[in-house]
Amino acid sequence: MTPNLVKHFLRDDDLTAAEQSEVLDLAAALKATPYDVKPLAGPKTVAIIFDKPTLRTQASFVAGIAELGGHPMVVDGNLAQIGTRESIADVARVLGRQASLIVWRTHDQSRIDEMAAYAGVPVVNALTDQFHPCQLLADLLTIREHKGSTAGVTMTFLGDAANNMGHSYLLAGALAGMHVRVSGPAGFEPDPLVLARAQELAATTGGSASIVPGAAEASLGADVLVTDTWVSMGRESESADRAGVFRPWQLNEDLVSQAAAGAIVLHCLPAYRGKEISAGVLDGPQSVIWDEAENRRHAQKAIMSFLLRSSSLSRGGE
Ligand code: NVA
Repeated sequence: MTPNLVKHFLRDDDLTAAEQSEVLDLAAALKATPYDVKPLAGPKTVAIIFDKPTLRTQASFVAGIAELGGHPMVVDGNLAQIGTRESIADVARVLGRQASLIVWRTHDQSRIDEMAAYAGVPVVNALTDQFHPCQLLADLLTIREHKGSTAGVTMTFLGDAANNMGHSYLLAGALAGMHVRVSGPAGFEPDPLVLARAQELAATTGGSASIVPGAAEASLGADVLVTDTWVSMGRESESADRAGVFRPWQLNEDLVSQAAAGAIVLHCLPAYRGKEISAGVLDGPQSVIWDEAENRRHAQKAIMSFLLRSSSLSRGGE
């Protein structure tokens, strides 16, 4: 192994299609036997930093790290004031001497890129403004469980296609060989570079990635329907303006009736019943949202194990 190779998970396409599949296989194995694999035995410490609100991410990382034999060190970003009180590079150098892995939920992607450049240990993206790759591993695991595989499966994302979830569905879905459609109001299209990258990946996996403007057309025949809040963290001041604009993209019974028979419904949560999703769909028989929430833990255990195994560290993860 190359000395001091450090592998990070900063965006969905940091994994190849084969690596993504390997991580999902491992996640399924860890779900079946949660306590057999202990790459963090010691216990080794994992720093988990939040610059934005959290529930599922903190809970699933803390629980998953414990199951891997490690110690979770949760850092409040408001206290640490990373990039303000001291530079991201200095924080990275300090935490990299205490922890075997760093997990960070933050704002712009450039912040986590800088953390990864200086940490000396693997860094995991626990949501940025641009991507939410851990959520996608959980979603793909859930789709495998309910649809048998991801290859050739059509998945429609309804809502703010310019946000982190829209981007991650495009990249991770394309890597998984899925046909990914994103659909939302004009002005909320994905970053063209992300769409182009997804199309490039899809060309190698047999999938596809496209924008389908109308919600009904986008939902037609879909095997998986997904949505996300119309107002991402940090966009709260736009809440009133968005409600009316996004209304036609509400994931409700009408759109579910357009989808394939047996289609499943995903939502990364938190959900706002009556806004981006109707209560009847969220709580209905096609919803697999609680499986999806549980799968965060299994998927994140798998990516942490994979990164530790794939990195050759002078300390920490060795
Ligand atoms: N797009 C949402 C995802 C929440 C898990 C947000 O960034 O707030």
